[in-house]
Amino acid sequence: MDFDKVINMRYSVRKFSDKKVEKEKIDKLLMAVNLAPSARNSQATRVIVVQDTIDKMNELTKCVFGGNVLFIICAKKDNLVTRKYGEIDASIALTHLVLAASNEGLGTCIVGMFDREKTTEYFKMEEDLVPLLFVTCGYPSDDSKPIDLHYNRKDISEIAFKESLENKYER
Ligand SMILES: Cc1cc2nc3c(=O)[nH]c(=O)nc-3n(C[C@H](O)[C@H](O)[C@H](O)COP(=O)(O)O)c2cc1C
Repeated sequence: MDFDKVINMRYSVRKFSDKKVEKEKIDKLLMAVNLAPSARNSQATRVIVVQDTIDKMNELTKCVFGGNVLFIICAKKDNLVTRKYGEIDASIALTHLVLAASNEGLGTCIVGMFDREKTTEYFKMEEDLVPLLFVTCGYPSDDSKPIDLHYNRKDISEIAFKESLENKYER
């Protein structure tokens, strides 16, 4: 798919159809994660793919939204603590995943509202990993549409500057 289309089509999907996400597509999404850059190529992001037991994930978050796959994005603790780039690396990897999903015609919603303690316990992460974000994923239901927040975008001149902070960037 054209990259502009991939970016423009993406929105947070909060209503999914029952259609199963094919393993080949999940593999492609994970390849995209694997190709993400990371500080000093640390590759310290870990992803747990939950599909068969996704119903259990409703105990950890209210935001599965009927998705067919849930990705649990985690950082290795040592990358978070000593090198301090764990969250940044994971965010980039997650962005690759979300855009790769959009390219495959899949919908996603990034989910920060989950129970971190229960998640750590459920997946027995203990010393090694910290769960950072969930991504729920699947085929959007026929009546899925973006909520108003999606359309509420600032003008480029509010977020970008030219040469110094005194000059707004004008398109
Ligand atoms: C770090 C992060 C955490 C988020 N957590 C949630 C969440 O817990 N539940 C939810 O419904 N959406 C969540 N979202 C989705 C945002 O609300 C959404 O991306 C934003 O409103 C823009 O809308 P759009 O994704 O449709 O363009 C999260 C997004 C990000 C980046």
